[in-house]
Amino acid sequence: MCGIVGYIGAREASDILVTGLKRLEYRGYDSAGIAVLNGSVKVRKKEGKVSELETVLNGQPVDGSVGMGHTRWATHGVPNDVNAHPHTADNGRFAIIHNGIIENYAVLKKQLAEKGYTFTSDTDTEVLAHFIDDVQKEANLSFAEAVRQALTQVDGAYGLVAVSQDEPDMLVVARNGSPLLLGIGEGEHFIGSDASPFIEYTRNVVYLNDGEMAVVRRNSYEVFKIDGAPVAKEVHALEWDLEEIEKGGYEHFMLKEIMEQPEVLENAMRGRVRLDDNQIRLGGLADVMPQLVNAERIIICACGTSWHAALVGEYLIEKHTRIPVEVEYASEFRYRDPILKDGDVVLVISQSGETADTLAAVRQAQQAGILTLGVVNTVGSTIARETDAGVYLHAGPEIGVASTKAFTAQVVVLTMIALAIGKERGTIDEGTLHTFLQGLTAIPDQIRSVLAQSEQIKELSHDYKTADNFLYLGRGCNFPVALEGALKLKEISYIHAEGYPAAEMKHGPIALIDRFMPVVVIAMKDAIYDKVVSGIEEVAAREGAVIAITEEGNDELDDLCKVVLHVPRSLECLEPLLTVIPLQLLSYYVAVLRDCNVDQPRNLAKSVTVE
Ligand code: F6R
Repeated sequence: MCGIVGYIGAREASDILVTGLKRLEYRGYDSAGIAVLNGSVKVRKKEGKVSELETVLNGQPVDGSVGMGHTRWATHGVPNDVNAHPHTADNGRFAIIHNGIIENYAVLKKQLAEKGYTFTSDTDTEVLAHFIDDVQKEANLSFAEAVRQALTQVDGAYGLVAVSQDEPDMLVVARNGSPLLLGIGEGEHFIGSDASPFIEYTRNVVYLNDGEMAVVRRNSYEVFKIDGAPVAKEVHALEWDLEEIEKGGYEHFMLKEIMEQPEVLENAMRGRVRLDDNQIRLGGLADVMPQLVNAERIIICACGTSWHAALVGEYLIEKHTRIPVEVEYASEFRYRDPILKDGDVVLVISQSGETADTLAAVRQAQQAGILTLGVVNTVGSTIARETDAGVYLHAGPEIGVASTKAFTAQVVVLTMIALAIGKERGTIDEGTLHTFLQGLTAIPDQIRSVLAQSEQIKELSHDYKTADNFLYLGRGCNFPVALEGALKLKEISYIHAEGYPAAEMKHGPIALIDRFMPVVVIAMKDAIYDKVVSGIEEVAAREGAVIAITEEGNDELDDLCKVVLHVPRSLECLEPLLTVIPLQLLSYYVAVLRDCNVDQPRNLAKSVTVE
C-alpha cells in the first residue's frame, strides 16, 4: 500500500511531489523518496516520514519540472534508506518507483546476477529496474518499449512510474493490481495512487485499469495495454474533497478497511496459494520448515484481535498437522514462567509488530533457545526483525484503531501455514489440500457478497444503537469470531459485550437474557449446528433478541430469530473469514449511530508499545 505521485509540466516538481507524498502518508510510511530530472536523474530518499525526506531536500534541493515520488510500506527488505524508492539502474540513467510485489523477482534476480548485475538493496523493485535495463539493451529499445516488454515477463502486482534521462520529456506509467490515475491539466500532467496529490491543480482524471500503461508528456498522454494495443480513455471529473480521497470515499478508515478485505486477502495469498500444482509457497518459512515439521508443540502468543486469530489458528493447525497447539495471551505468557522445551515452537501474531507484550514473549522464547516465528503486517517492525522466521500479511497499513482487515489476513496466513506444515508432515492428503486451496481462493469473492449486504446491516443497526449489553455466541472455530465480534462492538461503540462458546451459556450467561439483551449467534450448518440451534431456542424462550449468522439457503432460523444474516457456505475452518464480516459491519454502523469516534476510540492506541 505504498503511495505514488508523479509530475510533468512547468512547475517545480519537488514541491508538488513532497506535498503529494505527505497526503499519501496515510497509506503507510516507512520511507520516502523522489527522483527529479534535470539533465540527469537526481534521487533523494530517506527512511522515516516524509518530513525526514524534506530535511534531506532542504540540504540538497533538486530543481526540475519532471519527477516522481514514493512513500514506501515495505514488502521486501527492511525499511531503510537503501531499500527506499526510487531505485535506479545503469548508473542512474533511469529510475523507477513501484507499489506491489514482483512474484518472480527471485528468478529474475538470479538471471541478472549471472549476467553480472549487482544489487544494492533487498527489494524486488531494484530487480525490476535492472531487468528493464537488460531488456532495453538486449534489443536496443526505446525506454517506454523496454518497460512494456519487461512487464510482459513479470508476474505479480505493480503500480509503476519510470523516468529516464535519455528521454527526459516523459514519464512511463503502468498498472497491474495497484491503483494509479492520471491528473489531466493544461500543459501539465500528474500521476497519483489516488487524486490527493494533485486535487488542487485538476479534478479531471483518467483511471488506468489493470494491464494498462501510459506514456505521459506535458501536453499529451497515450494509454495502451501491456501487450501494446492502444486504449481510448475517458476523462472523469472528480467531486471528492481531499479527506474523502484519502479514505477512498468512505466516511471512516475502519469502513474502508472492512470493505477492502477481498483485495487484502488476494494480496495475502498472491504467489503463495498455488492451485495449479497444489502447493503453498511461504518463502519466509522455507529455512525453518524441517523444524516445524518435527515440532512437538506450537505455542501461539498474541494480544487482542490477534489473539482471536490465534484461537482460529489453533483449530487450523491442530486439524491439519496434528501438532498440539496452545494459545497464550502474550501478556500472561511473559510473567508465568512458561515451561518451554526442545521441540517447542513459539509463533507470535501482531498486526503492528510492535506490541510490547508480544515482543516480550518473543524474547523470552529466544532466551530459552526456542524457535520463534512471526505473523506480522508491518514489514521491518521489531517483532518482524527479532523473530527467527515468519510470514507477512501484506494487508497494507491498518489505520482504524479497531483491527478488521488484519484479522482476516491473519486467519488466511495461519491457514496457509497449517496447510504447508500438514503437507510436509503428510497429515493432509493431496485431495483435501486441493479442496482447501480452492476454498481459500473462493473466499475474496464470498466476502464481496457479504459486503454487499452492508446497507441491510446499516438499516438494522438502528434497532441496537441504544442497547446497553450484547452477547455473542459461537462454537468451534466460530467461538473466536464471537469474541472478536464482542471486542469490536465494545471498543468502538462503548456498548458492553461478551463473547462466549454457545454451550457455555447455560453455565451462567443465560441469567442475563431478557428482552433487552441482543444475542448474536453464529449458527453455521456444521457438525454442531443442532446444538447451537438448541441454544438459540433457549434464548428465544427468554425473549432474547437473536441476530443469527447462518449460511445461504438456511431458512430454518427465520421464525426463531429477530434477524437472520446469511454468508456463503465454505469449509468449516474457513468460516471465520466470512462470519466475522457482518459483525464488523454491525459494530461499525452501531458506533456511527452513537456518534462515536470510530477510527480513534477513546483510551485506545493503534499500537500498544508499553505494558
Ligand atoms: C482490537 C485491536 C487490538 C489489537 C492488539 C494487538 O481491534 O486492534 O486488540 O489487536 O492491541 O495488536 P497487534 O496485532 O498490533 O500486536
